[in-house]
Amino acid sequence: MLTDDPSASPCGTPHSTGSDGSATIQPFAEPLAMVEFFLNGAAVSALPDESVLAACQRSGVALATVCKGRGICGACRVSVEAGLDALPEPSTNEIRLLGYLARGEDARTHRLACQIILTEPLSGLRLNAYPVAPKS
Ligand code: FES
Repeated sequence: MLTDDPSASPCGTPHSTGSDGSATIQPFAEPLAMVEFFLNGAAVSALPDESVLAACQRSGVALATVCKGRGICGACRVSVEAGLDALPEPSTNEIRLLGYLARGEDARTHRLACQIILTEPLSGLRLNAYPVAPKS
């Protein structure tokens, strides 16, 4: 974003310039709010607007992927244990892929982890990687 504000920077990080002309990076006013969700019962913290798959990868939590989050392989399929009503509707492609993968199962509670973008209303979302492992 172009601006006439001398404290603005192209990277979005606030800067100021000292009397000697040196640039100083200012800390953000507020830390980024994390969105916490659960995968197979383990808590995972996500950055706002991060996908479930990306949050798992960043956090070192194993979740299968073949297409690296492009929404075409279905390897990241998860079942939604809690929070289904808070999720946005799946895309036509996601519905089609989940229907194909379900093969007679009820696919309405399944989603692609790479297509779930985490926002504050999804905090507390509970997911299980597919196939769901039996609880011990
Ligand atoms: S990672 Fe391939 S569909 Fe999600």
